[in-house]
Amino acid sequence: MAAKAGMIIQRVVLNSRPGKNGVPVAENFRLEQSTIPDTVQEGQVRVRTLYLSVDPYMRCRMNEDTGSDYLLPWQLSEVADGGGIGVVEESKHHNFAKGDIVTSFNWPWQTVAILDGSLLQKVVPELVNGRLSYFLGAAGLTGLTALLGIREKGHVTVGANQTMVVSGAAGACGSLAGQIGRLEGCSRVVGIAGTDEKCSILVSEMGFDAAINYKTGNVAQQLRELCPGGVDVYFDNVGGDISDTVISQMNQNSHIILCGQISQYNKDVPYPPPLPPGTEKIQKERNITRERFLVLNYMDKQEASILQLCQWIQEGKLKVRETVVEGLANIGAAFQSMMNGGNIGKQIVLVSK
Ligand SMILES: NC(=O)c1ccc[n+]([C@@H]2O[C@H](COP(=O)([O-])OP(=O)(O)OC[C@H]3O[C@@H](n4cnc5c(N)ncnc54)[C@H](OP(=O)(O)O)[C@@H]3O)[C@@H](O)[C@H]2O)c1
Repeated sequence: MAAKAGMIIQRVVLNSRPGKNGVPVAENFRLEQSTIPDTVQEGQVRVRTLYLSVDPYMRCRMNEDTGSDYLLPWQLSEVADGGGIGVVEESKHHNFAKGDIVTSFNWPWQTVAILDGSLLQKVVPELVNGRLSYFLGAAGLTGLTALLGIREKGHVTVGANQTMVVSGAAGACGSLAGQIGRLEGCSRVVGIAGTDEKCSILVSEMGFDAAINYKTGNVAQQLRELCPGGVDVYFDNVGGDISDTVISQMNQNSHIILCGQISQYNKDVPYPPPLPPGTEKIQKERNITRERFLVLNYMDKQEASILQLCQWIQEGKLKVRETVVEGLANIGAAFQSMMNGGNIGKQIVLVSK
């Protein structure tokens, strides 16, 4: 019997695992040619991928055991997936028509795919002035993480004269978190980032009051100078030494938004990693809250929060930066670069126009 022809597509599979304590590299992924069926079944849609998102949490998916019950490991030689957005080319699902723009948290890393309509959400391009990739960042999971992290765990109060510090400040979440902290009422916002260029963008474009280059500066000393009243809210993206330094300057009854701990992701430690004894002592003595935050636990607030983010974007109150890499073949390199701080704002891969 002759094999069915199918449509030829490109896809990216997991080629190898970096190991729990290893540094991920582009070669952990492999581009290959594959086929999808010619016909779309009832309830399915065929989509062409426009943009894919690469994110730090994917590092856990590269391990055989992700360490979390809500994350499934990627399998060797099977297609990887994550946040994606694309256009419907053919639909046999009642919610979607040809030309609709749709998104999913589990979009396969391939140029064209046949997906279950139930996995997809339709988006309204006008909400982001046609900048569709924003639905993977500022008007998507990243924006939700920054906004809901601050609202659920930050205890920010208008008029309370609070100082917020953001680590990983020039990354996707951090660059939004500092701006949202200000919009929600913080009177002073200070970022910590890894290059002078990032620090300069945070202050000149994103409205941070100041930024510290942790690779060249003395973080403890600069924090003391830049936050003379101490730190009331800490949006923590990185963990490790930077966080120990920030926590040591936090006020009584202050709050940590435990967003992520990227400096620990290539280490085989539990999440969230326990604080060193000295830092834990400070946290307890000063009654500093440090509760685990997971954006996926607040999806009932997704719709209203996305509308809020889109409104701020349209009003120019929320400045958005993206680092866009072109071509599905380069997604592994984009991931490697992002894990090394190579991006400013959200790391996006443009698959097709
Ligand atoms: N809780 C949730 O629901 C949730 C949702 C989404 C994301 N997250 C977490 O949020 C954090 C930020 O994610 P993102 O999407 O904004 O990622 P991102 O764009 O890659 O930003 C992370 C930033 O951290 C900095 N960084 C990387 N390694 C570092 C290290 N060893 N020490 C200090 N800084 C380091 C990077 O640049 P520089 O080093 O140059 O400053 C980079 O700008 C991650 O930890 C992620 O897992 C959590």
